[in-house]
Amino acid sequence: MLLPADLRQKLSPDSVSCLPAEIRKEVLTLLEELQGHSTRRSLIEWARHCGYEPAAHHRLLIAELEKVASGETPRLAVFMPPGSAKSTYASVLFPAWLLAKSNWNILAASHTTELAEKWGRRIRNLIAEHSVTLGISLAADSQAAGRWALEGGAEYYAAGVGTGIAGFRARVGLIDDPIRSRQDADSELIRDRVWDWYINDFKTRLVPRAAEILIQTRWQEDDLAGRALNHEEWKVICLPALAEANDPLGRQLNEPLWDDDDYGRRCRPRCELTYELPTLLPMKIPNALPVSIQQLVREGAVNGSINSN
Ligand SMILES: Nc1ncnc2c1ncn2[C@@H]1O[C@H](COP(=O)(O)OP(=O)(O)OP(=O)(O)O)[C@@H](O)[C@H]1O
Ligand SMILES: [Mg+2]
Repeated sequence: MLLPADLRQKLSPDSVSCLPAEIRKEVLTLLEELQGHSTRRSLIEWARHCGYEPAAHHRLLIAELEKVASGETPRLAVFMPPGSAKSTYASVLFPAWLLAKSNWNILAASHTTELAEKWGRRIRNLIAEHSVTLGISLAADSQAAGRWALEGGAEYYAAGVGTGIAGFRARVGLIDDPIRSRQDADSELIRDRVWDWYINDFKTRLVPRAAEILIQTRWQEDDLAGRALNHEEWKVICLPALAEANDPLGRQLNEPLWDDDDYGRRCRPRCELTYELPTLLPMKIPNALPVSIQQLVREGAVNGSINSN
């Protein structure tokens, strides 16, 4: 059971300060346990616990991430405009919560190792700060930003797209912004390299039945998302900056995604740019891999090889 907000307020440390010391201690321990219980059950509670009040599109993202955690969605692709807090929810809050909930190994990749490590550092710090609430703690001997482990449990590995991933098997593979810029997205050579890395490095590091999450702003039809969606079945959440017909959030036509001042000030020019692009949907595209490898992947030989490791 989640702890209702009104009860939580009534049971705050301040409100029980009048109680005798021993009873207060017991009530506060109970409160912490209840709080931990609800944050471990609900990603939205965890986000609030960390000081975020999720907007409508965040709540949709949260609901979809929870389906990944429950095993209902094996592959989730999320396309939202720049600055819409994709990374905050999917690459920072979600992994910390998932580790508390499931103890799954997580492989997280971004266009550079530095960026991937930045998410790793933020998650690691969140876990250190909220260890009691999450019910997990960091292993004392494994705390590098790019690769760390929980006490007696799961590991987190941050990788740059295009770099090798050594000695790691993940139950969840998360790619956040695989391409650095529009210029890179327009280069066929870079797109081919990213795809090659995805198939031959990233995917081979996932255990059978691992979940995949791909988060990005779409710049190019033939980008990693375009190819991945063509290659396998994905649940797609596509929210343009300004609503189009049949908007997943039920917005009116041209209604902005997130109208709060902070968001508006920071990313309006890029939102406009994004809006000029068509909403990109899965499409048939030529695959960059040699046919032999494509066949191996489709027939499960590449994934199958994981079983023998
Ligand atoms: N309600 C909110 N929930 C989460 N983040 C919020 C909220 N309101 C404002 N923010 C801020 O919005 C920013 C979102 O940044 P973030 O990097 O997560 O976005 P992004 O969509 O991944 O951007 P990019 O396209 O550059 O990768 C953060 O600085 C965060 O603090
Ligand atoms: Mg981001």
